[in-house]
Amino acid sequence: MSYLFFISGEFEELGRIEVESFLRCFGGRVLSFDTQIALGECDREIEQHFNRLAMVHEVSKHLFSCESVEELRKGFREVSLPSGKVCVRARNIGRKKADSSKLERELGSILWRRGARISVSKPDFIIRVYLSKRIHAGILLHKTDKKQFLLRRPDLKPFFRPGALLPRMARSLVNALCIKNGIVLDPMCGTGTFLVEAGLMNLDYLGIEAYREIAEGCKTNLMHYGLPRNVVVGDVKNMPIEDCSVDGITTDFPYLQSTRSLGRIEELYTRSFDEFERVLKPDRRLIFLTNLDVDDCIQESFVIEYKLLQRLHKNLTRRIYICKR
Ligand SMILES: C[S@@+](CC[C@H](N)C(=O)[O-])C[C@H]1O[C@@H](n2cnc3c(N)ncnc32)[C@H](O)[C@@H]1O
Repeated sequence: MSYLFFISGEFEELGRIEVESFLRCFGGRVLSFDTQIALGECDREIEQHFNRLAMVHEVSKHLFSCESVEELRKGFREVSLPSGKVCVRARNIGRKKADSSKLERELGSILWRRGARISVSKPDFIIRVYLSKRIHAGILLHKTDKKQFLLRRPDLKPFFRPGALLPRMARSLVNALCIKNGIVLDPMCGTGTFLVEAGLMNLDYLGIEAYREIAEGCKTNLMHYGLPRNVVVGDVKNMPIEDCSVDGITTDFPYLQSTRSLGRIEELYTRSFDEFERVLKPDRRLIFLTNLDVDDCIQESFVIEYKLLQRLHKNLTRRIYICKR
């Protein structure tokens, strides 16, 4: 089955990695990328897991892709559709290529002339048309509930600390770990943003946090979402975890502006990477966020697959490292 993923423009680079990892996690693959669109193929099993996605607005069952509006009209004259009442929704991505309302009416009337029943208010299915660099048409299967991420904003959780990550970004990075079933480790878990997202995705997780009061706060947050309180007080440089026992690590290093760190910063990085190498299963991903360039330090034990930059403000650019053991 092939699917169209409509990726958020907010952080498209990360959205692409999320989709690629998500497909791979369920045995699928990306066939092509267009601006804010990924075309991928996968078994239908993946459909039960669309609610894991974060930096994706919608997923549709792919009908066809083409180069021009003329070819789009032709496609609508020929494409086979399920029975039921249909509605067409078109959207320009980037530069405006067509009047979307006019196009929706025109495409709807092509279907109507073919005998389809049209309903704008109560359709049985919606055909989505994305006017990106190319044009893509599909039957809408999933819309991401973006409101859930706003409701889980760090300041709305029972335990809050400045510097906590936004849940949508955290969810996207957990997806980038490419774990279908398994254990996610956040060895500097703070308020537990990664852990909450992993738990809500039905993944197992473990958090480590140096400060008891923060570890307790993290447990309060997990309990708030009905999730197990799998957090221990400990040091990332010497973790109470068995060798080769976790399926993915995702963590946010202290930035030393709003968070504290135990020990000297160089030592924190070098000893953490040794520990990550020890506890992570082979071929699995380590994802970490930092305000420093640590390429030289990491390359001894991990391959850097992606390094993304995210400017947070004038004096702080976040580096997102996605590495493989
Ligand atoms: C940037 S914050 C993590 C924020 C977290 N992602 C969240 O959303 O709340 C880094 C956390 O690492 C913890 N930390 C600092 N040094 C540590 C160490 N050596 N071992 C374990 N945790 C440590 C800090 O107390 C802080 O809570």
